[in-house]
Amino acid sequence: MKIVAHRGASGYCPENTLAAFKKAVEVNVDSIELDVRLSKDGVPVICHDAKINRTSNGTGYIHELTLEELKQYDFGSWYGDEFVGERIPTLEEVLVFLQESDVTVNIEIKNGPVIQGNIEEEMLRLVYKYDFNDRVWISSFDHHSLKKVADLDKHIKIGFIFHMNLINLFDYIDNSGIDPYSIHPNYFYITEEMLKEAHQRNYKVFAYTVDDVTVGEKYKHMGVDGVVTNKPLAYKQSGLFTSK
Ligand code: G3P
Ligand code: MG
Repeated sequence: MKIVAHRGASGYCPENTLAAFKKAVEVNVDSIELDVRLSKDGVPVICHDAKINRTSNGTGYIHELTLEELKQYDFGSWYGDEFVGERIPTLEEVLVFLQESDVTVNIEIKNGPVIQGNIEEEMLRLVYKYDFNDRVWISSFDHHSLKKVADLDKHIKIGFIFHMNLINLFDYIDNSGIDPYSIHPNYFYITEEMLKEAHQRNYKVFAYTVDDVTVGEKYKHMGVDGVVTNKPLAYKQSGLFTSK
């Protein structure tokens, strides 16, 4: 079972920072999940929330701040003194950093409160520039965005995130016109039947977000392909999850 470090190793470092991504590589995770948004001047940057208020010493919406403005703020001190000076990473900086590693990257496209017209193109441009085509898969709650990515590149891997317990999940996927690589349901919605049908269709199933290793173990035995977790170190230390 694969271990995907959610927002980097965010259980031990400020989420979605280079510190969190370095820690995830150190822990030897299979994959890193990160959240991409566009700055006011159209640069893909890594941040979960639409605003920087929670994870920095600044305030405001990312889409209303230029990269230069965003870079002035500290994205580490809210988490702990040892992380003072962490800056918001750009997607480009993260891909450059990860080039020397062997981790794969789950890029989650964040939209809202504005739908950022060209985030898909900007994200793909960087994926191609650093030759990550075969090392990324793209997910989102915004399935229109996923459709756009799939239309732009029919080879790129797509992962549907489902935070709702849909009645006809696979009919929904069939109607979307997307042939996904994976589905990412909220872990408590995953059933044996769902796993069976997903695997018959050759879809991977990633459970999010599972920090309790004993819960992760249960899903491993059910047959999920990966867990998305803030606590990859706990999984590695458990000795149960040695996919690498
Ligand atoms: O992998 C799914 C997970 O990242 C989605 O939730 O809100 O943490 O981006 P969120
Ligand atoms: Mg995410």
